[in-house]
Amino acid sequence: MAQQIQYRTLGGPEVLEFVTVPQPTPPSDGVVVETRAIGVNPIDVKLRSGLRPSPPITEPRVPGSDAAGIVVAVADSAPGSWAVGDEVIVQGASGAYRTHLPASASQVVAKPAAVSWNAAAGIGVPAGTAYQALRSLGVAAGQTLLVHGGSGAVGQAAIQFARVWGATVVATASARNLDRVRSLGAIAVEYGDGLLARVQAAAPNGIDRVLDAAGTDEALEVSFALVERRSDIGTIVVGAKSDELGIRAWAGGSPHPLTAEEQAWRREAYGVAADLIAAGRFEVEIAGVWPLAEAAAAQEALAAGGLRGKVILDPRA
Ligand SMILES: NC(=O)c1ccc[n+]([C@@H]2O[C@H](COP(=O)([O-])OP(=O)(O)OC[C@H]3O[C@@H](n4cnc5c(N)ncnc54)[C@H](OP(=O)(O)O)[C@@H]3O)[C@@H](O)[C@H]2O)c1
Repeated sequence: MAQQIQYRTLGGPEVLEFVTVPQPTPPSDGVVVETRAIGVNPIDVKLRSGLRPSPPITEPRVPGSDAAGIVVAVADSAPGSWAVGDEVIVQGASGAYRTHLPASASQVVAKPAAVSWNAAAGIGVPAGTAYQALRSLGVAAGQTLLVHGGSGAVGQAAIQFARVWGATVVATASARNLDRVRSLGAIAVEYGDGLLARVQAAAPNGIDRVLDAAGTDEALEVSFALVERRSDIGTIVVGAKSDELGIRAWAGGSPHPLTAEEQAWRREAYGVAADLIAAGRFEVEIAGVWPLAEAAAAQEALAAGGLRGKVILDPRA
């Protein structure tokens, strides 16, 4: 048998149920992965609570999109060369909070042996989003990038990709997280009153591109004062306002779906990040690990704020 977290109605963390279900069979184009670690993302909480609209629930819905584990079944017709025993990362899963996760072959990426289960499950949405957003913005060597929310999961990934590509990065964080942002190679700036002057002092030659992973009015107003072309500013949080503000947005409430190229970048990020982790050039910070059965507590901890790094579920705890 397999186990999963599911909900049948929108609401608080109490709607999450831990249930036993039959072991799934692989989809015709894929595999079943016995999970070793599962990533929890803010979007899981937003969807569960109804803060982010989703289609009506017609059958129990399993949250989550990021996991890592071992292939335990492969469909005869599955493309590629996946075999039982392969260690893999699953990206874009439809419901990752499970002990046994069906996935199409195109959602599976090999996990390098040097990458821990928790880091592999934590690459997911944050690295995919950061990588795609920076590629969409055209961030390149020699430019200066401002990241609002640099201490968050997406922000940390964005800093690291941009540094690997040779860009200078100024990143905002709360006072307690400035050291972390610095350790990733960014110039750290505390958000809050006086932010504009602090960024100007940190980047005397100006800011070329902005990634907003905070979504606050302050982040947007400071960005407008620093960057001439609004199209050089992108948000992943307040997409609903992006057209009105003239900035770019990817998901996060944006009325414009990701293009095929943007979706491809999000997928590409998994392998790129995994290889960088294996090479010691990229880190996924882990905030804490909760048993799968305690997913409600894990989501509550994430929603409460104050954690730094990825919240991970352990399906074997
Ligand atoms: N559009 C997409 O596809 C997409 C994908 C992934 C995530 N997101 C969204 O992007 C946001 C960040 O995701 P995440 O996983 O990185 O979340 P996270 O790990 O919880 O990080 C949140 C970040 O926001 C910062 N922050 C909190 N209050 C702030 C304020 N008043 N001013 C400036 N920064 C502030 C935090 O800094 P301190 O902790 O230092 O205070 C931290 O860096 C979330 O809203 C998430 O839903 C969107």
